[in-house]
Amino acid sequence: MKGAGEWGTVEIRRPTPADVDRVFEIEQQSFARPWDREAFELLAACRGDYNWDVVTYYLRVAVEGAEVIGYVAWRVDRQSREGQVDNIAVSAEWRRKGIGTRLLRLALRLMKEDSAMSCVLQVRESNRAAQALYRKMGMTPVGRVPEYYGDEDALVYGIDLDSI
Ligand SMILES: CC(C)(COP(=O)(O)OP(=O)(O)OC[C@H]1O[C@@H](n2cnc3c(N)ncnc32)[C@H](O)[C@@H]1OP(=O)(O)O)[C@@H](O)C(=O)NCCC(=O)NCCS
Repeated sequence: MKGAGEWGTVEIRRPTPADVDRVFEIEQQSFARPWDREAFELLAACRGDYNWDVVTYYLRVAVEGAEVIGYVAWRVDRQSREGQVDNIAVSAEWRRKGIGTRLLRLALRLMKEDSAMSCVLQVRESNRAAQALYRKMGMTPVGRVPEYYGDEDALVYGIDLDSI
């Protein structure tokens, strides 16, 4: 899955256990409340597709050469036919180069191919960069969860996957 253009050497692929150190480093660099390392270990151990009843959890990594520079995690509930982006981050020195766009586009396409008809995600109200990315992808604000992050509200963004 190579992209065209200036960053055409960046590839998005399934994770391996060897990727976890770098993924977790980016996670810690990117979030005040990072996921547990074990979550990435679990997803990497099954090459990025983890099935739990009617839900499948996915992880894909963006790599430049041997270096992991970003990742996206999402889930699909095949009963409700809803997808959710659970996590997306790009290493600080690789931001604003279209990597987040490619990761999100791939996640939306693959959740649609799975069975999802729509996708939602939560984002900190103060996270302008991520919200700009989501709006650019055609997502719109559809709700708010008060104090979702404890210290801050979440905005809920959604998209009808028919539109992609
Ligand atoms: C959000 C994030 C994943 C975006 O990744 P990215 O690779 O920089 O995104 P892209 O380069 O594809 O940007 C796409 C568009 O999003 C918007 N955008 C991205 N970063 C932005 C910023 N800092 N300020 C304003 N707009 C921004 C722009 O419209 C941009 O298009 P442009 O560069 O042509 O103007 C990245 O900033 C990140 O890892 N942040 C920390 C983790 C995080 O907050 N994740 C989201 C949790 S909900």
